[in-house]
Amino acid sequence: MSYLIADPKNKNARPAPDYADYRDPTFRREFVADMERVSPFQRQHPNGVAVLRYDARQFDFCGLVGDTLAAAGMLDRVALAARGNRLEYLHELVAAENQAMDSSQQSAAAKALYEMPARFGALYERLLAEIVVPQLGVGPAHFQRTPTFRVFFPNAPGYPGETSYHSDIMIGHNPREVNVFVPLVRCEATRSLLFAELPESLELLREYDYDFARFGSDTQNDPVLMERCARMCQPLEVDVGDIVVFDSRCVHAGPANKTPLTRVTFDARVMPVADHATQHNVYQGRGRRRADFSIGAYFSARAVSDPGPTTGYAPANAAKTTPVLDADLEGVTAQPATLSSGVVDLIRRARPGDTVKIAQYGFSVGTVEMNEIVAAATRGVSFRVVLDKAGNSASAAALKAHAAAGLPIEVRLQKRTMHQKFGVVGDDAFFGSANFSNSASGKNSEDRFVVKNNAELSRELADEHDRLWAKSVPA
Ligand SMILES: [Fe+2]
Repeated sequence: MSYLIADPKNKNARPAPDYADYRDPTFRREFVADMERVSPFQRQHPNGVAVLRYDARQFDFCGLVGDTLAAAGMLDRVALAARGNRLEYLHELVAAENQAMDSSQQSAAAKALYEMPARFGALYERLLAEIVVPQLGVGPAHFQRTPTFRVFFPNAPGYPGETSYHSDIMIGHNPREVNVFVPLVRCEATRSLLFAELPESLELLREYDYDFARFGSDTQNDPVLMERCARMCQPLEVDVGDIVVFDSRCVHAGPANKTPLTRVTFDARVMPVADHATQHNVYQGRGRRRADFSIGAYFSARAVSDPGPTTGYAPANAAKTTPVLDADLEGVTAQPATLSSGVVDLIRRARPGDTVKIAQYGFSVGTVEMNEIVAAATRGVSFRVVLDKAGNSASAAALKAHAAAGLPIEVRLQKRTMHQKFGVVGDDAFFGSANFSNSASGKNSEDRFVVKNNAELSRELADEHDRLWAKSVPA
């Protein structure tokens, strides 16, 4: 996991106006542009929503919820385990008084989740760093420091019956945020989030000219709008192991749970660093607490970074190792997994009397591969090397000099372009894009595959080598 430390101070920050519909002309200009633009996330997902997958065994949020409720004395952990840790059944395991909603629409059970052990925070950040941010494709992102837990027991007393359709923008959120919704139960019908895709959502908000005071009132009082929202907003049908990410401008609602099972979900928002850097407006919540939706307050000052590529010379690979036979052929040591280490291992495994067949488009003098060939030939391993005619005169001359000194190395040149890069050592083989060159091993984007104990593949490559050998001329 890697982090980018960002400057939490937005030097261009302009304080949020104190009214709901953003009439201040300067604020409004940027706000409307943000509402109407194609966001970086939307560019990848035109409907403003995507479902990502993760391995719920590696990220066991359900087990942690069980542990936390058990620690709060609200749950018999063994009973939940007997239910396969399925949180859908929490209502059968948690006492009624811990299910009832209070005036802030939270149950005691939901509140207990905010006492989560530190390992929940670590797991949450790992989920963002390893699954969410890399797949959002919007670069590094600040993240909601404390995710919001929602535990809706079926027909829990105290929960308002009305479904309130809204866009998070109308409760003060920044239109540049991306929402992350993580179900910890199977979500469907009213045990889910009712959700409208971005194009329809924007069409509706635009019709209201972003007058959220009027829109908010109508979602409670205007049957025509309520009916339209009910048609637009469909339940997300997702399960444990899914993550729904959506543009914060989308209209949605968290309905009263009328299903027979419990809803447990958590959600959070992320703010792409690049997007934040160019924004002047600052946003704050419209609730009583007027939450400060700025970086360093609601959002982490740190940003989870997109780890970038994970192949080739990516920093993520610097620590990877591969077993390589030692130069004295006695033991096996874990060596840095470079492009060359697999080939070095194969050549060291060749025995005196074996013939190693190699075809290379490019072969440079002074490479680790050249050194290994000479070392193996010195102990009696034979080599047949086919090279492309162009650009290999120095290596051909070097190999011929070793042959003249008595090493069992034969070199041939292929007149027509020979672009192959492979080799066969008994039942083992290697192939890929990489030449035997320092550029390939340390600079270029290349791959080289090593396949061991595959007689069929090795025979086919050996046959191909024989064909090239027959068509080439001694160097
Ligand atoms: Fe919301």
